[in-house]
Amino acid sequence: MKLESVRGMRDILPEEAVLWQRLEGEIRALFALYGYKEIRPPVVEPAELFARGVGEATDIVHKEMYVFPDKKGQMLALRPEATASVVRAYIEHGLYAKGDLAKLYYLGPMFRYEKPQKGRQRQFHQYGVEALGSLDPALDAEVIDLAWHLMERVGLSREGLFLRLNSIGCREDRPAYREALRAHFSARREELCADCQRRLAENPLRILDCKEPQCQEAIAAAPKSLDYLCPSCRAHFEELLSLLGDLGLAYTLDPRLVRGIDYYTRTVFELCSRELGAQDALLGGGRYDDLVEVLGGPPTPGVGFAGGMERLVLVLSQRQPLDAAAPDLDAYVVPIGAEARRKALELLAQLRRRGVAADLDYLGRSLRKAMSVAARRARYALLLGPDELAQGRLTLKDLRTGQSSSLFLGEFLANPRAFLA
Ligand code: HAM
Repeated sequence: MKLESVRGMRDILPEEAVLWQRLEGEIRALFALYGYKEIRPPVVEPAELFARGVGEATDIVHKEMYVFPDKKGQMLALRPEATASVVRAYIEHGLYAKGDLAKLYYLGPMFRYEKPQKGRQRQFHQYGVEALGSLDPALDAEVIDLAWHLMERVGLSREGLFLRLNSIGCREDRPAYREALRAHFSARREELCADCQRRLAENPLRILDCKEPQCQEAIAAAPKSLDYLCPSCRAHFEELLSLLGDLGLAYTLDPRLVRGIDYYTRTVFELCSRELGAQDALLGGGRYDDLVEVLGGPPTPGVGFAGGMERLVLVLSQRQPLDAAAPDLDAYVVPIGAEARRKALELLAQLRRRGVAADLDYLGRSLRKAMSVAARRARYALLLGPDELAQGRLTLKDLRTGQSSSLFLGEFLANPRAFLA
C-alpha cells in the first residue's frame, strides 16, 4: 500500500513554511500590540465540549467532527475550532477570578471532515483571539479593527477585502426570530434541500448558512435578525456601527449572516477576500455572551474571531509566487581536501555560535559543483584549501560580485558579521 497523507490534510513543505513563519511572526506581534496573550489548549478535547459549545445541530458537530473513543470509552474529538477550548480553559483555570478582561490568542491546527476543495481542508490552521469579560461595543470595534489591521500588516489592501456584519441579538430575542424563520421556511418547505428540512425542526437559523442553490430563493426572502433585536441589542449594534465609522473601518450590512455556530449572540462578522472563490472568508467571528455560562462558568460575555492560515497563504501566494530559489544562508563553506574539511567543521560550529547561518557540502561534490550550490544558497562562499590552512587564513568570496579576499581566520571569527554584509 502506498502511504500518503490523509485526504484533506497536507504537508507544508519548506519553501511554503517560510511564508507561514513570516505570517505567524506578524500575527503574534500584532496580537501582542493589542494586549493579547497566547494560550495553547490541547488539540484533543471531550467531544461533549463542542456538542454543548458549538451546538449539536451545527454542521460542524453534526457532520464534520472527528470523534473517537479512547481506550476507556471516553468520547473525544479533534477540535474543530478553538473558541470552545479557550472558554473551557478559562473556566477550568478560574481566569475570570482575576476580575480583569482576559485577552487570549491562539494559533494551531483544527479538524473538520469537510469536502476538500480550494481553501477548504480537513486539517487547517487558525489564528484567533478571544476577549472575555466585557459587553462594551468598543471591544467589538477593537476586535474588528484588529482584523482589518492584520490584513494590512500582512500586505493585503482594503480594496480587495470586504467585511460582512450583522447582529443576531441576544437569547431573549432569539425565540421570536426563530419562530419567524420557522414560519417563513415552513411555508416554503418543498423548496428546501433535505438538510434544511431537518434544520427547520432543529434550528431554522442554520438554514441561512446553507449553500445549496435550491434554498437560496427562500433564504433571500427570509426575515432579518435586525428586525427582531431588543432595544438593548439595537443600541449595542448602533454604537458599534458608530465606532466603526469613527475608526474609518468599512463594513457591509448582511442581514442573512448568522455564521455556522450556535454560540453567537449580537455581533457577527466575516472578513472576505474578492480574490478567493467560493471559500472567500479569510476570518470570521463575533460575540458569544452566553458561552461561558453554557459551559459551566459564571455569566461572562465574550467576543473574538478566527482566521484560516491556508486562505491567507493562498491569497498572498496568488499575488506573489513563492520564491523557491531564495538564498537561505549567509555563507557556504567549501573545503578543498580532507584536512581542510576537518577545519571546516570547526569553522562552521564557530560561525553558527556567532549567529551566522552557514552550511557545508556533505555529498562529496566537486569544487565546481560545490561552488554552484554555494551560489544558489548563500551570499558568500568561504574557501578553505591547503594554502589557506598553512597560513591560518580563509578566502571569502562574494558570490554576487565575484570578488575574493583573503582573511586571517582569527580576524574573521572575531566579528564575522563585519565581513558578511
Ligand atoms: P469559523 O468561521 O468556523 O469560525 O472559522 C474561522 C475561519 O477559519 C474561516 O473564516 C476560514 O478562514 C477558516 N476555516 C474554517 N474552516 C476551514 C476549512 N475547512 N479549511 C480551511 N480554512 C477553514 C470559528 O472557528 C470561530 N471559532 C471563530 C470565532 C472565534 N468566533 C469567535 N471567536
